[in-house]
Amino acid sequence: MKPVLILGIESSCDETAAAVVADGRTVLSNAVSSSEQFHAAYGGIVPEIASRKQLEYLEPVLIAAMREAGVTPADLAAVAVTHGPGLIGSLVVGLMGAKAFAYTHDLRLIGVNHLEGHLYANWIRLPEEMRPEPALPALVLVVSGGHAHLVWMEHHGVYRILGRTRDDAPGEALDKAARLLGLGYPGGPIIDKLGRDGNPRAVEFPRALLPGTDDFSFSGLKTSLGHYWRKTETGGRAPVADIAASYQEAIMSVLVDKLFRAAERLEPAQVVLAGGVAANSRLRILAEARAAVDGIPLSLPPRMLCTDNAAMIAAAGYYHYLRDDFAGMDLDVNASLPLVG
Ligand code: KG4
Ligand code: ZN
Repeated sequence: MKPVLILGIESSCDETAAAVVADGRTVLSNAVSSSEQFHAAYGGIVPEIASRKQLEYLEPVLIAAMREAGVTPADLAAVAVTHGPGLIGSLVVGLMGAKAFAYTHDLRLIGVNHLEGHLYANWIRLPEEMRPEPALPALVLVVSGGHAHLVWMEHHGVYRILGRTRDDAPGEALDKAARLLGLGYPGGPIIDKLGRDGNPRAVEFPRALLPGTDDFSFSGLKTSLGHYWRKTETGGRAPVADIAASYQEAIMSVLVDKLFRAAERLEPAQVVLAGGVAANSRLRILAEARAAVDGIPLSLPPRMLCTDNAAMIAAAGYYHYLRDDFAGMDLDVNASLPLVG
């Protein structure tokens, strides 16, 4: 049977991405351009810069994705596009591009929630990988620069939010810490790398376990780092690698603890990690160790597919396609699009 080819388009933040994925699992192309370097001087994303760069990058990225995949628009079954949540100006560019592409080539349009896209990175198989497809129902932790969601995935497209962050997202907490420590932007990958040479027990940071709820909180931790930084201005400060490792440990240990406590209670067929922070090496090590002890199967997405990309949007789009869940040309962007509802 001919594979179902979906063109995915992602533009929710500072990445402009297009990809062609076959049957929701085989990546034929995965083009990503990022405006990250233009935000570095500001220590965080500047929405106006992000949307301008989306406009500049979209066409070349689309052309690259089609060329790399070696397909023509006539080979495609549909165009899947992120329509939220994210930065409104950035989202609009991707959606308009997707609509224009779909209209011009007489293709159907699929609207994908960005968080759903992250989750579907787990269904993609890279050529050298032998991972089985995640089993359902799954307990999914989506952790990124803007989100920390604990999600119950009953079936494809059927989700229930069990918990979320009450303040900062884990990626945001890492990015803000890196700014304070003068390490650059984005902080997540920098702290990940630096933390490998540091002692995670050097500095005692608070761990907000919030018993009795599946919610998360990371703003106290950020405040505590600020206190520590000021207190040690005149001496007694641990090496920056130790501070980074300890701070990272406080975030990752809480994520793993809360995730697996919920898993013990709810007994999913699979525990799944997703989102930019799922690329974190310490989180992956801690989660793998805990999964082994608890005897719960764990799915980790390929590291390169954790941060924003369009292959994950095309993969999610494939399951919409199977359900005949298409959008009309009136599909709109929604900066705070909920996963459920
Ligand atoms: O999923 P993503 O690309 O964008 C959002 O949807 O937010 O996630 C970006 C976030 C940033 O906060 C970045 O610092 C973090 O993911 N991140 C990491 C790593 N790589 C990216 N955090 C920890 N360790 C990493 N290796
Ligand atoms: Zn994302």
